[in-house]
Amino acid sequence: MYYLLIFVCFVSTLLDSTNTHALNESLMICSESHEDRRLFMQDKPRSAYAQLPVIYFVTPTYPRREQIPELTRLAHTLLHVPRLHWLVANDRDRCDKFLDNMLNKFGIPFTYLASPMPSKFRNTKPAPRGVANRRAALQWLHQRNLTAGVLYFGDDDNTYDLRLFSEIRQTQRVSMFPVGLIAEYAVSGPVVRNGKVVAFLDSWVAGRRWPVDMAGFAVNLAYMSQYPNVNMPFKPGYEEDLFLRSIGLRIDQIEPKGNNCTEILVWHTQTKNKKSPTVRIDSALLNDRFNLGALFHSLKVMGVASASDTEGPRAVISKNGKGKPLSYFLS
Ligand code: UGA
Ligand code: MN
Repeated sequence: MYYLLIFVCFVSTLLDSTNTHALNESLMICSESHEDRRLFMQDKPRSAYAQLPVIYFVTPTYPRREQIPELTRLAHTLLHVPRLHWLVANDRDRCDKFLDNMLNKFGIPFTYLASPMPSKFRNTKPAPRGVANRRAALQWLHQRNLTAGVLYFGDDDNTYDLRLFSEIRQTQRVSMFPVGLIAEYAVSGPVVRNGKVVAFLDSWVAGRRWPVDMAGFAVNLAYMSQYPNVNMPFKPGYEEDLFLRSIGLRIDQIEPKGNNCTEILVWHTQTKNKKSPTVRIDSALLNDRFNLGALFHSLKVMGVASASDTEGPRAVISKNGKGKPLSYFLS
């Protein structure tokens, strides 16, 4: 009996120790660079920032024709931000050479993960967008035992004010601030009284204790590491709430940022998501006598558009205001 008890205890400890972390994602790291190749940021040399805590900026992204322009724009914001590690998690089951090259060129320290949405969620409406990606990033942080620095979830289509980064960098536990262009009120964020968060303004409450946008908070990693059950379930609309619940947040601990939540430092801008077209264009124009072959090749690689001899609306090529037949260019 005694031995049986010991055995049961042993097995349950074993189970506990393997299950202490609620996330159990398999990680696909496509590429990674810990080297900061930027010489200057905001007119100061990199060395001027050496003492600052690192911001882990987690960007879920997915293949669509807007992906490369969005990431380009975001990268050009992040290029100004010192001491930042960019975790780019792509919603795709494999790595992509083009993205790898692109991320490498910026010189920002980064990790590029492939983190596809599980197929069972792919056709659900609404789908849990960006969740597999953020879970993979959380797993990456956990595996590296990173317990210093600040975590921020920054979608690829938002607009970030540079002041946001200096504000969130000082996060002790969890900081919060308003996000512009959210839902019905065009804003979502904390209600602050005497420097303390007392409630929330957001048009969609739906029982959420923390009715905030993903872009409206930042978390200190030393704080987060005290909560082994940190999690972000695949539950559309409730990701922020359940994530913040999983790290034991209390309202009196929240640090309001952006001048006591009076300023907008991040915008929930949204880009139209249109299908990438197939353009019908004679392959005679796509050889190396013209630029168009190389141009459409790069559009294809970026997922923006493709060319075909037989499909899609016919490309009009004009001169002096008049469409010209193929023969015109070939003669
Ligand atoms: C709103 C919130 O602002 C997001 O923080 C939240 O993740 C999202 O809702 C949601 O949970 O559905 P919204 O602009 O409606 O964001 O959503 P998207 O920008 O389309 O997607 C959020 C993030 O997930 C983006 O970074 C996007 O690139 C990524 N995503 C989207 C994927 O990785 N896979 C997808 O299939 C769609
Ligand atoms: Mn968005």
